[in-house]
Amino acid sequence: MKLITAIIRETQLEAVHEQLIKNEIERITVSRVSGHGRQAKEQIYRGSKVKPSLIPKIKIEIAVNEEFVDITVDTIIKAARSSNGTGDENDGAVGDGKIFITNLEECIRIRTGERGGSAI
Ligand SMILES: Nc1ncnc2c1ncn2[C@@H]1O[C@H](COP(=O)(O)OP(=O)(O)OP(=O)(O)O)[C@@H](O)[C@H]1O
Ligand SMILES: [Mg+2]
Repeated sequence: MKLITAIIRETQLEAVHEQLIKNEIERITVSRVSGHGRQAKEQIYRGSKVKPSLIPKIKIEIAVNEEFVDITVDTIIKAARSSNGTGDENDGAVGDGKIFITNLEECIRIRTGERGGSAI
């Protein structure tokens, strides 16, 4: 089992959600978070480094069995990309986000007490 955690733009949530449902990935947790990526180091004001501002983002968490990892990740990548204004639509722009995949040790379905893959 894996836990897929994606940090995406607020503006892409609707598209990501819609595409996940279309691909039958229907269990999801969504949170409002804030953060910054690597562009933070470029924030220099009058020659001195300033504290980077925290930008509102959306965190998506999806726990899946191994066979659903690829489809989940691919779906998120496709729908979370925004346009950088140069080429085709939604070809990806700075700040589009990141996906983290971690091993998930256990999952327990509270109602039934099932554990592991079938509980997901
Ligand atoms: N290494 C990280 N650890 C934790 N959170 C991160 C990390 N990288 C990015 N994030 C989160 O993802 C959000 C979007 O990151 P972002 O897409 O700007 O990453 P980046 O590394 O700067 O890539 P890009 O150059 O494409 O912008 C950040 O605001 C932050 O909340
Ligand atoms: Mg960035």
